Amino acid sequence: MPVSRSLFLLFLLHLAVLVVARRSIASSEKITSPWQTLSGNAPLVIAKGGFSGIFPDSSYHAYALALITSLPNVVLWCDVQLTKDGDGICFPYLNLGNSSSISYVFNDTKMYRVNGQLMEGFFSVDFTLDDLTNVYLTQGIYSRANKFDGNMFKILTVEDVAKQLKPPGLWLNIQHDAFFTQHNLSMRSFVLSVSRRVIVSYISSPEVAFLRSITARFKQSTTKLVFRFLRADDIEPTTNQTYDSILKNLTFVKTFASAILVPKNYIWPVNTDLYLQPHTSVVLNAHREGLEVFASDFANDVPLSYNYSYDPIKECLSFIDNGKFSVDGILSDFPITPSEAIDCFAHLSTNSSGKAPLVISHNGASGIYPSSTDIAYKQAFDDGADVIDCAVQMTQDGVSICLGSINLMDGTNVVQTDFNSRSTTIRQIQPIPGIFTFNLTWEEIKTLKPVISNPSRDFALYRNPAYKYAGSIFSLKDFLAFAKDKPLSVLISIENAAYLAESLGLSVTNAVIDALNQSGYNNQTNQKVMIQSSNRSVLIKFKEKTNYQLVYKIDEDIRDADDSSIKDIKQFAHSVAITKESVFPTNQLFLTGATNIVSKLQSSNLTVYVYLFRNEFVSQAWDFFSDPVVEINSFVMGAGIDGIITDFPGTATAYRNNKCLKMGKNKPYYMNPVEPGALMQVITAEFLPPAESPNPVLTESDVAEPPLASITKNITTTGNGTVASPETSPKSSGHLQSTACVFLSSLGMLLLLL
Ligand SMILES: *[C@@H]1O[C@H](CO)[C@@H](O)[C@H](O)[C@H]1NC(C)=O
Ligand SMILES: *[C@@H]1O[C@H](CO)[C@@H](O)[C@H](O)[C@H]1NC(C)=O
Ligand SMILES: *[C@@H]1O[C@H](CO)[C@@H](O)[C@H](O)[C@H]1NC(C)=O
Ligand SMILES: *[C@@H]1O[C@H](CO)[C@@H](O)[C@H](O)[C@H]1NC(C)=O
Ligand SMILES: *[C@@H]1O[C@H](CO)[C@@H](O)[C@H](O)[C@H]1NC(C)=O
Ligand SMILES: *[C@@H]1O[C@H](CO)[C@@H](O)[C@H](O)[C@H]1NC(C)=O
Ligand SMILES: *[C@@H]1O[C@H](CO)[C@@H](O)[C@H](O)[C@H]1NC(C)=O
Ligand SMILES: *[C@@H]1O[C@H](CO)[C@@H](O)[C@H](O)[C@H]1NC(C)=O
Ligand SMILES: *[C@@H]1O[C@H](CO)[C@@H](O)[C@H](O)[C@H]1NC(C)=O
Ligand SMILES: *[C@@H]1O[C@H](CO)[C@@H](O)[C@H](O)[C@H]1NC(C)=O
Ligand SMILES: *[C@@H]1O[C@H](CO)[C@@H](O)[C@H](O)[C@H]1NC(C)=O
Ligand SMILES: *[C@@H]1O[C@H](CO)[C@@H](O)[C@H](O)[C@H]1NC(C)=O
Repeated sequence: MPVSRSLFLLFLLHLAVLVVARRSIASSEKITSPWQTLSGNAPLVIAKGGFSGIFPDSSYHAYALALITSLPNVVLWCDVQLTKDGDGICFPYLNLGNSSSISYVFNDTKMYRVNGQLMEGFFSVDFTLDDLTNVYLTQGIYSRANKFDGNMFKILTVEDVAKQLKPPGLWLNIQHDAFFTQHNLSMRSFVLSVSRRVIVSYISSPEVAFLRSITARFKQSTTKLVFRFLRADDIEPTTNQTYDSILKNLTFVKTFASAILVPKNYIWPVNTDLYLQPHTSVVLNAHREGLEVFASDFANDVPLSYNYSYDPIKECLSFIDNGKFSVDGILSDFPITPSEAIDCFAHLSTNSSGKAPLVISHNGASGIYPSSTDIAYKQAFDDGADVIDCAVQMTQDGVSICLGSINLMDGTNVVQTDFNSRSTTIRQIQPIPGIFTFNLTWEEIKTLKPVISNPSRDFALYRNPAYKYAGSIFSLKDFLAFAKDKPLSVLISIENAAYLAESLGLSVTNAVIDALNQSGYNNQTNQKVMIQSSNRSVLIKFKEKTNYQLVYKIDEDIRDADDSSIKDIKQFAHSVAITKESVFPTNQLFLTGATNIVSKLQSSNLTVYVYLFRNEFVSQAWDFFSDPVVEINSFVMGAGIDGIITDFPGTATAYRNNKCLKMGKNKPYYMNPVEPGALMQVITAEFLPPAESPNPVLTESDVAEPPLASITKNITTTGNGTVASPETSPKSSGHLQSTACVFLSSLGMLLLLL
């Protein structure tokens, strides 16, 4: 057994004690509640097979992680299958071939009829519990990390889960009663017998006959019976009716169940284009009938409806905090997310705005609307961003505009227009051809349509197609006018200044200074102006002429910065923007540890902003549980960063407003930062990704650049843009020095979250 595993188990011993302690705390907090659940209590979180979004469904680790990261009264869900000798195991599918190593142990698959359909595979009815001793649980959902498959997670019985993990609540789902009956095995007997030995809080089934067969026996008990609805047009085997038609007679359901479990789209339907439709009255109808309603199919790593902007907490909130109803519980593969939603994010007054960290947009709310458009900026403002940003580009006629890229191919439909002929290769900017802002006039650019960015296109995760071509591009002047007199600071980012000066005689720095002055952002303004560049010469120029806050952008992943480089940066910048990877380095999307670059920079009085935060789960390390708030929180609470640069400012400001941040030491477990490297520790040697060479250390030569040269030529323009003296600056791209370093991840475990 690897060392990390035994450590893990050791921590779990502590866990059992803590869970008991937490339960008693929770039960003493009885306050009048705003919840629109049937009971008026907060909704429950049900962890499907444990934290099955990370560890194999129904594994010990999955259940343990769910207990640590969820509400104190989390309910552990077990899909019960019966073995040949009548024991009940927790396994997510009827077919054991699906998420276990059984096909390496046995080779005789069987073909059985299940609900009228033939199914081939390995079935528990053909194996005794003993036969399954050497069969291990594996990740059955192939889009999830299979890196934990080497852990030899044993198949657990229902009693194992109850006794080893001592969950505050246990939910048994009996998906297939009729199938086991056909094989002469009785679910009823098993369920009745196990519930005499362990406390079972909920028993669900999509089969009416099964629930009816046990109703009388559970009448006097605290165990609740739940009728599970499958897809609307699936046939319920007992009544031979569709689930849809059974939904129309909840009085009937009430005769054998006290609650229903429905797929989430029964409540908030999503159309085939992934847009949310108006909610149904299922919850209200069921509540009127006295039935509790649980909603299933919550997972952070599947495409959500566009209406949620890839924010899974937003999705949860629409089920529990919509002003009209609340479901009574959420069944999720990622139980941390509904836990946060219920405990920290529901029923917030919009007013409670926190102050830190600073929330800086990236091309406006570019996760929601096309980058740098009027509506993207408005959205960022409405979402409570502190700072909106303009990446300044120059047009052919010298107008400064805001656009995420100097290449119009990124962010506009230019290739579909006649301007496609203006494509050029300019090696100082990029090795491949582009259509650059300085090859079109402002009037020409205004005829282009902005296009929403899709950084996760490779994963078929798109941003809202309804807004694909929405909005219009802002000039810098428009941008400043928009921000003026709003409680907003502006960040102006300047790249390619040297090329523009040398080759085109355009001075971006002067253009920006003039535009700011003309827009009334002079030195006396109450509104803060930040200038960001990865070129020190640009910042030095601003330092000479203005007293704006200067942000040095380090555009490479680094693991450290040496003292002389920091000393140098201090000469011309107040703040530094670094990448996420520089704070928490990753290997194949697993955190390998944490650097101390943030505190090092801060100890030199440099403010540290981190880019780039995105809601799409594929942009986040596994360690953050596909939850953008867990990621943000880990950077803020774990690394102490001062500001977040994000495509989705609304998610960052919602994070900042959440109630749990104000709880100080009593912060719940799910509002603690993750332990970097903890998940990596659980990966067994043969599944570890190959070690990567560490990121380099920033040195003085990486920062150093000769000062900008003075004016060399005069230029004429045809437009009304601000055109001022050009500047030149030899390019500097000293290679970051890479020092070999033995990687030692911290011994901290996931469970150190406790
Ligand atoms: C596992 O189950 C899922 C969901 O039922 C199914 O889509 C998938 O094809 C199954 N995989 C295997 C190997 O049986
Ligand atoms: C199944 O495995 C056994 C023992 O490993 C082997 O003798 C047998 O030929 C295999 N059967 C098939 C159908 O592969
Ligand atoms: C179930 O039991 C019946 C009667 O004892 C027997 O005829 C039938 O073959 C059994 N079925 C299975 C799948 O074992
Ligand atoms: C179920 O209903 C369908 C159509 O409503 C009918 O054709 C079929 O015979 C029924 N089956 C049983 C077992 O009652
Ligand atoms: C609904 O179910 C109840 C109880 O089973 C039954 O009495 C009633 O006739 C059903 N109503 C309809 C419209 O099917
Ligand atoms: C979801 O978004 C679409 C497109 O923006 C909009 O038409 C629809 O009304 C939204 N749905 C809900 C329930 O708000
Ligand atoms: C917002 O804050 C103000 C001042 O602190 C207070 O008067 C107001 O009631 C608050 N509104 C809400 C909705 O909390
Ligand atoms: C784009 O502008 C650059 C710099 O002025 C110039 O060298 C290039 O020829 C222009 N390309 C086109 C297609 O206009
Ligand atoms: C702004 O401040 C800088 C440095 O403090 C000063 O040199 C410059 O003249 C000021 N500009 C204006 C317009 O006041
Ligand atoms: C940082 O700023 C504080 C107060 O402004 C000052 O006391 C301290 O010496 C500064 N530290 C460094 C390393 O510049
Ligand atoms: C640039 O223009 C200024 C006046 O606008 C003039 O004094 C200067 O000589 C010009 N420089 C060159 C290099 O043409
Ligand atoms: C240039 O500016 C002048 C004065 O501000 C204005 O009258 C003129 O219409 C502008 N021309 C263009 C092309 O915007």
